[in-house]
Amino acid sequence: MTSGNLLTDNPELYEARFPDPERLAGRWAEDCLRRYAAGPSVLDLGCGTGRDAAQLHSAGRSVVGADLSEEMLAYARDRHPGPRYVRADLRNFSLGPAAPLVPLAPGEPGAPGVFDAVVCLDSALLYCHTNDELDGFLSSCRRNLAPGGLLVAEMRNGAYFLGRNDLLDTPRDNSLTWQGVSYRSTTTLRIDRTAQLLRRTRVWTTDDGSAPVEQRSAWRLLLPQELRHFLTAHGFTVLELHDGPGPRTEPPWQEGDLPGTAADADRLHVVARLAG
Ligand SMILES: C[S@@+](CC[C@H](N)C(=O)[O-])C[C@H]1O[C@@H](n2cnc3c(N)ncnc32)[C@H](O)[C@@H]1O
Repeated sequence: MTSGNLLTDNPELYEARFPDPERLAGRWAEDCLRRYAAGPSVLDLGCGTGRDAAQLHSAGRSVVGADLSEEMLAYARDRHPGPRYVRADLRNFSLGPAAPLVPLAPGEPGAPGVFDAVVCLDSALLYCHTNDELDGFLSSCRRNLAPGGLLVAEMRNGAYFLGRNDLLDTPRDNSLTWQGVSYRSTTTLRIDRTAQLLRRTRVWTTDDGSAPVEQRSAWRLLLPQELRHFLTAHGFTVLELHDGPGPRTEPPWQEGDLPGTAADADRLHVVARLAG
């Protein structure tokens, strides 16, 4: 068995496995930005295939998409053009003139302190596993946001796992056919209480004779009040913190839906404003 990240290495497969044909995630983020009258320049952190960044671009925003995966970035540039895509680690980034790739003119989106908003969707924030990494993420957001800038994030809700086991320890199978090959994945989630992480093991098998691929990943189990505390400590005011409706809730968010007030279900949504 080989190990790797089949999905981030194969962005097209990622989109086939997690389709979002109605661009709900990008539209939901745009709705949050509009509700709080965010300015036009947006940084999408952990942008993945670029589909959310491109949706925000099509809504008239000036977007930079940032991700660690070169494969994702190459795919995003090719398949979801419009935004500028750069490689950055969300745990510590500075997308200003010192950043690699293209030098930026002062005031151009991407120069420090000029983003009006940071969006971070589908649990990308939870790749900050430790408190230091969360501090690094929020310090970087503060450095790269204009005063009064917004942070919009959507992720798994750590509180969901308090007293609930339905998603844990039992392998779940999924299958899909992509480019004529049948892929089957078996995913197991378990809680690492010491590290406060949700650990995922996913084994992929195919019918084309390839060796199975085992993929391991982990997300921080972040509780809503813990997230509120981190945000406040970094100078943000929490405007919304709730479990839905959102792009990955059941039922999913629809245009016109307003944010809820509970934080009990398995997705967490937050909108926070940096002090002006
Ligand atoms: C679940 S995907 C979400 C992609 C996209 N936001 C979406 O909603 O479709 C997580 C993305 O985060 C990226 N990622 C993981 N760790 C990262 C890090 N430390 N810094 C930046 N991106 C990271 C992965 O490469 C992947 O593209």
